[in-house]
Amino acid sequence: MASQETFKEHSVAEFFKKNKQMLGFSGKIRSLTTIVHEYVTNSFDACEEAGILPEIEMEMKETGKDRYLLKVKDNGPGIPKKHLGKALGMMLAGTKFHRYIQQRGQQGIGAAGCTMYSLLTTGKPVYAESGNGKEIIKCNISVDFKTNKPVLTNIIEEPSDFRGLVVEAEFGDVKFEKSNYGVIEYLRRSALVNPHAKIRFTDPSGEAIVFPRSTEEIPPKPVEVQPHPLGITAHDLLDLSKAESEYSRLSSFLQARFSRVSLAKVNELKDMLPEINFNKNPKNLSWEECEMLVQKFKDIKWISPSADGIIPIGKDLIEKSFVNVLNPEIVVVSERKPKIYKGGIPFVVEAGIAYGGGIASAGKKGEVMRFANRAPLLFDAGGCAITETVKSVDWKRYNLKNFDEEPIVVLVNISSVHIPYVTAGKQAIAGIEEVSDEIKNAVMEASRKVQVYISGKRKKKEAETKRKVIRRYVNQLSSDLAELAETDDEEKLKEKLSEMVENRYT
Ligand SMILES: Nc1ncnc2c1ncn2[C@@H]1O[C@H](COP(=O)(O)OP(=O)(O)OP(=O)(O)O)[C@@H](O)[C@H]1O
Ligand SMILES: [Mg+2]
Repeated sequence: MASQETFKEHSVAEFFKKNKQMLGFSGKIRSLTTIVHEYVTNSFDACEEAGILPEIEMEMKETGKDRYLLKVKDNGPGIPKKHLGKALGMMLAGTKFHRYIQQRGQQGIGAAGCTMYSLLTTGKPVYAESGNGKEIIKCNISVDFKTNKPVLTNIIEEPSDFRGLVVEAEFGDVKFEKSNYGVIEYLRRSALVNPHAKIRFTDPSGEAIVFPRSTEEIPPKPVEVQPHPLGITAHDLLDLSKAESEYSRLSSFLQARFSRVSLAKVNELKDMLPEINFNKNPKNLSWEECEMLVQKFKDIKWISPSADGIIPIGKDLIEKSFVNVLNPEIVVVSERKPKIYKGGIPFVVEAGIAYGGGIASAGKKGEVMRFANRAPLLFDAGGCAITETVKSVDWKRYNLKNFDEEPIVVLVNISSVHIPYVTAGKQAIAGIEEVSDEIKNAVMEASRKVQVYISGKRKKKEAETKRKVIRRYVNQLSSDLAELAETDDEEKLKEKLSEMVENRYT
């Protein structure tokens, strides 16, 4: 048995220091892509919430073996001074975790995870500049691992018209490579589903690549949605009721804090639970009462959760992006209605298929592009519900012989206020039944459209071959017929026969 001296507590920062692979820091190429992913998704989220068209500039310089300096600058709202340290130097702190809102980040760990990785591999803090258009704050930020508290040094505050965030950090044990899992591929995919963004990346050789903006339309602002009664547990209800400060009666608290709870629904609950006083202060709800309420929530016929907070990419933009980036012969997109998982969390799946044309000439085959809230998922494909579902489709039924051999790209984007990721590294979607089923339905719907196209195309090709073969006999046939019919109007016969062949086989 372990002695009492070995019993110690540790902070979340220490935990992730030991388990950095959980945040995506495993392998040199992956670690670098993870870093770029965290900064880019943060910039996109911040810009979207502030209604700004994002412009991100990134520069990477090699500073040693497997060591790079990365500078990321965005034109977002910046981070207020009082939050800057926590945002970049404290694990599990941020503006997204506690809200039901569709954003790419959701845990409050991405940016601080990068600061941690910089400290662990180079011993250096990150340098940050945050401006709101009037003032700028510049400082170095590191993490105190023992306490998971941010440490700010060299703070300078001065007037400035700069608005946005700049982060400059040096990372070791990372590698820049132009591979399918590298930074450039990540940015390419990001640009594909975020055509409203402009991204400029200067690679370590000094070569700059620009992903231009192809639409000036800012995606709708993400709005916070309230939890649906079917998605919450007794513990959630107790937490929310204790935190309530505005509503002093249970009946009004339920109507105000949950989606789809009307006065009529509260009255239904009252009839079902005469032992509960619905005029009581929600702060005084007991665990037993919460359990009873959650139990009864399941017996009520609710309207499905509102999908107002869900922002898919949209058919038009997916089509446009596919054409811009892949120039395929055919593009199909299935648009689906919102669904719910875990009884209360709404989500929307979009599936697009691009086939032939530029995909064939680029030598791409059987590719699956996975996205969650418009952020590309490049890693952990094997354990992701999207890959598993796409691979499980019987493609032969859709006139495609072998998925891995066809010039086909399947894009799946899942949008939700809470994406069910497998790990904190946010690279794979968990195989929750409702989610997997919906991915399958979306992919199959798109596949059927491809099937119609391909079978139409095959029929056309067959007809074309027949037409060519038969046309070869027209000359001979018309001269033979002219001889048989004892006429010298062979030309007319030829014309008529050609017409018949054309009509029959086109
Ligand atoms: N470029 C930025 N502009 C404005 N605010 C930012 C920016 N980057 C980070 N933030 C703020 O810092 C917080 C912490 O970022 P961090 O990436 O650690 O967590 P997150 O994005 O909330 O969730 P996740 O861990 O899933 O990425 C964010 O919630 C946001 O409030
Ligand atoms: Mg983040």
